[in-house]
Amino acid sequence: MSDAKKLFIKTYGCQMNVYDSERMAEALGTSGYTTTDVVEDADMILLNTCHIREKAAEKIYSELGRFKGLKAENPDLKIGVAGCVAQAEGAEIMRRQPMVNLVVGPQTYHRLPEMMLEVEAGKKALDTDFPEEDKFDHLAKRPKAKRGPTAFLTVQEGCDKFCAFCVVPYTRGAEVSRPVDRILGEARDLVERGVREITLLGQNVNAYHGAGEGGDYTLARLIWVLNDIDGLERIRFTTSHPNDMDDTLIEAHGACEKLMPYLHLPVQSGSDKVLKGMNRKHTAKEYLRIIERIRKARPDILLSGDFIVGFPGETEDDFQDTMRLIEEVRYGQAYSFKYSTRPGTPAAERAQVDEAAKTERLYRLQALLARQQSEIQNEMIGRDVKVLFEKPGRLDGQMVGKSEYLHAVHVSDPNIATGDIKWVRITGSERNSLGGEILEKTAPVS
Ligand code: 5AD
Ligand code: SF4
Repeated sequence: MSDAKKLFIKTYGCQMNVYDSERMAEALGTSGYTTTDVVEDADMILLNTCHIREKAAEKIYSELGRFKGLKAENPDLKIGVAGCVAQAEGAEIMRRQPMVNLVVGPQTYHRLPEMMLEVEAGKKALDTDFPEEDKFDHLAKRPKAKRGPTAFLTVQEGCDKFCAFCVVPYTRGAEVSRPVDRILGEARDLVERGVREITLLGQNVNAYHGAGEGGDYTLARLIWVLNDIDGLERIRFTTSHPNDMDDTLIEAHGACEKLMPYLHLPVQSGSDKVLKGMNRKHTAKEYLRIIERIRKARPDILLSGDFIVGFPGETEDDFQDTMRLIEEVRYGQAYSFKYSTRPGTPAAERAQVDEAAKTERLYRLQALLARQQSEIQNEMIGRDVKVLFEKPGRLDGQMVGKSEYLHAVHVSDPNIATGDIKWVRITGSERNSLGGEILEKTAPVS
């Protein structure tokens, strides 16, 4: 039996948390921890939390309550809370759940090894600073071990937009972009480790303005330099704000071969009155105009969005504006939420929409989005797409991967390996995935 200590990490929320969890696991590797998927085996449990919607903190407290039994069985078990709930709640977490040993915010997890020394010495460790130093400069170098064919890479963090509903500017702080050479170094390392697709992450990724050779780099300029990395086949980015879709980024969607034809561009609402109340700083028409220009650059692009229903002041007419905008855009994928009051944000103070109306609007909105998703999936049938295979499927001999449009695609073929990119003819569509057959070709037929 190995004497390595075992770390169990549970990740909530966005892709950036997925990335942070990987980096935290690596940082804790230097403290002698290897990861486990079995919570009962853990010497340390770390919850990497999300604070975007209501009851997030309550859910974490009840999750922590469930670890009481494990702690009773193993008094040496260490429990940590990371991420945005840690940032927002801070010491309150240890007050309400005294068995928590460590609380670390999203900007300080490079200090985990030192914090663990305190924890191992029987003390509590708390760090929710927004430090001067860049955590990425202080994190242990990423290990060289082989890994799966897709990876996230954080290039930008924080948000200065202050949408009236959102906690992100408070939990993640101001916009900061990582320097180009660090991103390139990390991307090259990932490719050496077997990665063929990188998704660039940022709360406002298209607001990226990083320092690089020859000056300031926009996201488009960064994508173009990543495009030159041999062995990197696909580039994606998320999440974007409509006002930061500049001309060069729109052009890149048409011109940059490795940039995949999928764009998550949240609009939140189709009503100008609501957009103004949200402090989104654009109108529905301006958003539609951006979509039009993107589609001109890349006609087959698949669009994805985020929507909030029941924002304070939203009437049935405003909601109908959102439905009309959705009809006009046609989304292949979308995320939709009932507005949830977040203490400390401007909209939390305003008169709220009745809960039953929110529920009913969400139902109608999701029905429309589901219909669009299924129509667009059905339109893929008979088409040839290029699939990057990621892992075995549920059935024997089945493999699952993603098309250029980020559709999950299943095929049954014993000759496919993880990391292969193959042409697939789509033969069927299910609720959230497509099925297809491998084609013996290297260029598209249709
Ligand atoms: N209520 C509901 N949805 C929210 N989002 C962010 N804050 C809230 C809130 N208070 C949604 C937005 C955002 C996505 C990440 O989460 O749609 O784009
Ligand atoms: Fe939140 Fe708006 Fe910033 Fe997105 S752009 S993280 S919704 S404040």
